[in-house]
Parts: sequence; structure tokens; C-alpha cells
Amino acid sequence: MHDAAFLNASLATMREGSPYGAIRDGVLALTDNLISWVGPRTEWRGKAREEHDARGAWITPGLVDCHTHLVYAGNRAHEFELRLKGATYEEIARAGGGILSTVRATRAAAEDDLLESAQKRLAQWQREGATLIEVKSGYGLDRDTELKMLRVARRLSGLSVKTTFLGAHTLPEEYKGRADQYIELVCAEVLPEAKKQGLVDAVDAFCERIAFTPQQTRRVFEKARALGLPVKLHADQLSDLNGAALAAEHRALSADHMEFSSEGGIAAMKAAGSVAVLLPGAFYFLREKQLPPIEALRRHGVPIALATDHNPGSSPLSSPLLVLSMACTLFRLTPEEALAGMTRNAARALGMQDSHGTLEAGKQADLALWDIGAPAELAYAFGANPCMKVVRSPRR
Ligand code: NIG
Ligand code: FE
Repeated sequence: MHDAAFLNASLATMREGSPYGAIRDGVLALTDNLISWVGPRTEWRGKAREEHDARGAWITPGLVDCHTHLVYAGNRAHEFELRLKGATYEEIARAGGGILSTVRATRAAAEDDLLESAQKRLAQWQREGATLIEVKSGYGLDRDTELKMLRVARRLSGLSVKTTFLGAHTLPEEYKGRADQYIELVCAEVLPEAKKQGLVDAVDAFCERIAFTPQQTRRVFEKARALGLPVKLHADQLSDLNGAALAAEHRALSADHMEFSSEGGIAAMKAAGSVAVLLPGAFYFLREKQLPPIEALRRHGVPIALATDHNPGSSPLSSPLLVLSMACTLFRLTPEEALAGMTRNAARALGMQDSHGTLEAGKQADLALWDIGAPAELAYAFGANPCMKVVRSPRR
């Protein structure tokens, strides 16, 4: 006997092999917070304590946002105005604005206030069918504030949260001219303490002209590995520093952004099993011109994930559904690739592919019901929110 079953549903299971892994007139059953049966109604012989008539709704896996900077204080609307008058993101960063202005605000903020603001933002993800989100630190850049951010991420409720330590986001003001010493602080003190307190699921870094060199990034990755933590990388967003290859060298879960990544790096990612996380919100908001190498990713068979990259500077985007639309319109992904990018491949980018990202028996009961006639409508109707209901397992 199953706990519950949805009858009269169309299922976009997102299993590989057929478009959307779709099952028309399907049944999906749940037991003990896991999916216990998925298939066509004609094969359903089970019984469930609770039977729900889905009335023809589509059911997808809960959406997964695998790259966000959700916890921070303040905002950067003023920099948006400066950029509209001609200043570039890099110029603002070099003048002490950018990430550093959010660092100042986040250091000054009380932990409970950070939690309140992040929790308020998170409501939009809940409304739009997301069940799992990744949240990075990186606006502390000192021991106590990095730990504070990670604690806030752990305290968020309503969605499952994976935390990523991003101490190597940019160089804090007090370390100006001493980047290697800052990296030493991160590796010797901040990251080990965060790991010891059970606050970290993965480690990320920003490898870029305005952030850290490949060599400094390598040191952080080696420390992560020594601590048994998987890595991710903000790679090749504004310039090609060979970030994709560097990520692959360390068997990264993902390389993210990737606008300037080279074909060699992409081949290395395929061999390493790393996911490409594309972030159309940042591309849009910074009015970038360089498209990520979609064709090469397809040709090499690197899984493509998508994410909001929600952050106050380069992507103040709070809508996982809008990401689907932007990925199709700006990057020319198909609606199916886009939905796979926020389900199956996003789960893989978090190392959660065994429990999340598809509708399959044995996976967690994380799913969303949509008032749509076909799954492509999720990417097509931008600004709409056809989410009717979300089911999320409290397990993780
Ligand atoms: O993913 N690239 C680095 N980090 C963020 C931007 C952070 C910020 O500007 O505050 C990003 O785009
Ligand atoms: Fe980011």
C-alpha cells in the first residue's frame, strides 16, 4: 500500500531516452517521502491510502537551483544605475564597489536579519516549484562572517539547501596586495573551521582577473580535497583563464558561467564528469556579448545545468522559471534542454543525482504540479507562474 498517488497526470519524468521522459496519463505514487511508483495508468495495479486527481496537470521533478548567492545584506541598485550610464561591472569592482560593497553590508548585518531577508527571497522559489537550492557564502571574506553566512543558509526552511563555501570570492580590502596570504587564511583557518562545524557541502572559487588566479584557485581546491569536499568553479565568465580545464583537473561537480571556456576545457570536463552550469541571468543583466559554447558542450556531451545565480550584483534574479525562458531565448537551448538544466543536470551539479532531479522510484518525493498543456510552456510563457502545487520531502 502506497501512502499517496497522483492519478490522471502527465509526467515529465526527465529520465533520459525520450522527450522529457514523458508519460501521458500516468500515475505517480509516494511512500515514506520517496517516490514509490511511476508509470502509465494502464500498468498501475497499486493502491494508495490517499488518491489525488491531478486533473490532467503535468508533474515534473521539483526544480533545482544549483547556483545562488542568496544570503547577503543590502542591494546594488545604485551600481545598476552606474552601469546604465556606461560603467562596467569590472570597473565598479576595481573601484571598490561590486562584491566588496556587499561584503561591507553583510559583515555589518545581524545573523537573524540575514536569515529574515534570505528567507523572504526564498518564497519566490517555493512559489515556482523549486525544492532544492544551493546557497554560497562569499560575502564575508573573514572567518566569522563566512561562518555566519553558512549558518544562515543551514537555517533556511521550506526548501532543501546545499551549502557551498566561497571564501575565495574576491580579495577583501584588508588584504589588498596580499592575495596569497588571504588564500592562506582561507585554507588554513576559515574553510577547515566551516567544515568542522558541519556547514559546508562543497567548495567554490572565483577564478578571474578581478578575483583569484588559477594557481590560487588550485590551492583552495587542494585543501577542499584534503577535507573530502567536492569543488565547483566560477570559470571563464569575463575572460578565458582555462577555468573549465582547472575544474576538470579537480573532478569538479561543475564549472559555472563558462562564457569564454575553450574546447579543450570542455573535453576535459566531459572526461571528468563535470557539469556545465550556465547562468543566463548574469549574461542578461551584465549585457554580456560572449555566448557560452553551447554547441561544443552538446558535441562533447557535457551535461548542461541552469541556475539563477541570484546575487545582488550580477544577477538579482529570483525566478527559476524565468531562467528557463532566458536559456532558450538568449542561449538557444531547447525547452527540453532548459528543463533538464533545472532538474536532472542541476541535481548532478550538486552531486544529488541519486536522490533528486528525475521522477523515478526510489528518489525523494520532490515534485511540482503545473497547470500547462505541454512541458515546453514552462519555458515559453515568461513571467507566468503555472505552478499549482509543490511536494517536498523533508528528508534533506
Ligand atoms: O556569480 N562572479 C562572481 N560572483 C557572482 C557575482 C557576485 C556579485 O557581483 O556580488 C556571480 O556572478
Ligand atoms: Fe555566482
